[in-house]
Amino acid sequence: MKLSVIILAAGQGKRMKSALPKVMHKLAGMPMLEHVYKRSLELGADDIHIVYGHGGEHLHDYCSDFNVEWILQDEQLGTAHAVQQASPHIDDDHIVLILYGDVPLIKSNTLKALMGSVSADTISLLTVDLQDPCGYGRIIRDSGEVVAIIEHNDATDEQKEITEVNTGILALHAGYLNECLNKIDNNNVQGEYYLTDVIQLAVKDGKKIMTSQPENTYEVEGVNDRNQLSKLERIKQQELVERIMAEGVSVADPARVDIRGELDIGTDSFIDINCIFEGRVTVGRNVTIGAGCVISDSTIADGCVIKPYSVIEKAIIDNSVEVGPFARLRPGTRLNENSKVGNFVEVKNTQLGTGSKASHLSYLGDTDVGSNVNIGAGTITCNYDGANKHKTIIKDGAFIGSDSQLVAPVTVGKNSTIGAGSTITRDTEDGELTLSRTAQRIIRGWERPKKK
Ligand code: UD1
Ligand code: CA
Repeated sequence: MKLSVIILAAGQGKRMKSALPKVMHKLAGMPMLEHVYKRSLELGADDIHIVYGHGGEHLHDYCSDFNVEWILQDEQLGTAHAVQQASPHIDDDHIVLILYGDVPLIKSNTLKALMGSVSADTISLLTVDLQDPCGYGRIIRDSGEVVAIIEHNDATDEQKEITEVNTGILALHAGYLNECLNKIDNNNVQGEYYLTDVIQLAVKDGKKIMTSQPENTYEVEGVNDRNQLSKLERIKQQELVERIMAEGVSVADPARVDIRGELDIGTDSFIDINCIFEGRVTVGRNVTIGAGCVISDSTIADGCVIKPYSVIEKAIIDNSVEVGPFARLRPGTRLNENSKVGNFVEVKNTQLGTGSKASHLSYLGDTDVGSNVNIGAGTITCNYDGANKHKTIIKDGAFIGSDSQLVAPVTVGKNSTIGAGSTITRDTEDGELTLSRTAQRIIRGWERPKKK
């Protein structure tokens, strides 16, 4: 059976008080809508339809890589009306699953279990028991069988006591869905076309309503404001951090690590407090990540020590490298085995060879550093002439004295030495000492100025 997913995302999300469409607000670094899109892909959906409303036109631009049909719901006349915008685009012999762009934590397993019970004679409905069911559609049962869903506003006082509620998520045959949608009116307290009316119609047609429940209530919680979003964010973070701990990673405090993307991290690694991982980050085994590090889209191999407050972006770090504290690795950084980048060193588009060290206060940009090079404190590669960027090449075994400037394009020869405080503008010879300081003088009898 082929599967079509309809994701409803036309709600304006006024309570977010945002210029951004609600479903674009991020949870664990990814728009809520993308979470739901990914679940649809995991289920093997043959086609996915996203129903958006006014102000949501930019969704396509933000989500241009989604393989979906974008369907405008001009006016928001209710959930049945929203589904009706998409359903004509779906083949009658498909199964339709209805999801919501603002219900981001739904799990694939919950949906698989739900869809397991769909047939020509049944409709599958996801329900949940809530201590406070206020606002939700109530599940009305007769001798145990679901016979209707009554919206909160339409419910009698007695019905309002029911704690089993509609999550809004359901699955059914497309052909039958279309039949029902044509019969639904807006004869109710809110004057809306209710998707939930499908249930009464189906019961009349002799169909059985199969219900299942999610393992956790949060899976079906919707986001209407930033407070609710932050609660789901914490739940998601807890889940992500529990997953890495289960795989053999120690975490100083699970409540103080944020994973905003995909973190793949090896056993016996340790993450101290307040670290943030963004995008796709891969960390090897036995890696220590100190407090306050921000690491995005990078790879860190086995045995590295990343000391506190280092910021690492689009870098590749080989085995047993030491970084930080307070190091900044910018895109295009590649640190080979046993190299070291110490405090207050900024590295960009630069490769550091095996065993090379830049331990203190330096800028290395567009530089190719060989192996076993020592970059003295305060060394600056002057890679920018005000218009263009140029390359610096530092060959194996070179020693750069402290507070030197290497004016690119320039090559420092193999095993050559640069005297401290030099400004190097021409290539240096292999094995030789080069310096550009003025000789030290002494001015006898000179006196400091005195205050008048
Ligand atoms: C709906 C259900 C209710 C259920 C609750 C769960 C109906 C009639 N009621 O109520 O039984 O307990 O969800 O949260 O279905 N949307 C559109 N276009 C519209 C209307 C809504 O895209 O014209 C989208 C909204 O963006 C939202 C979702 O559908 O994501 C639900 O709409 P909402 O108005 O919040 O429905 P509820 O009244 O909460
Ligand atoms: Ca709602």
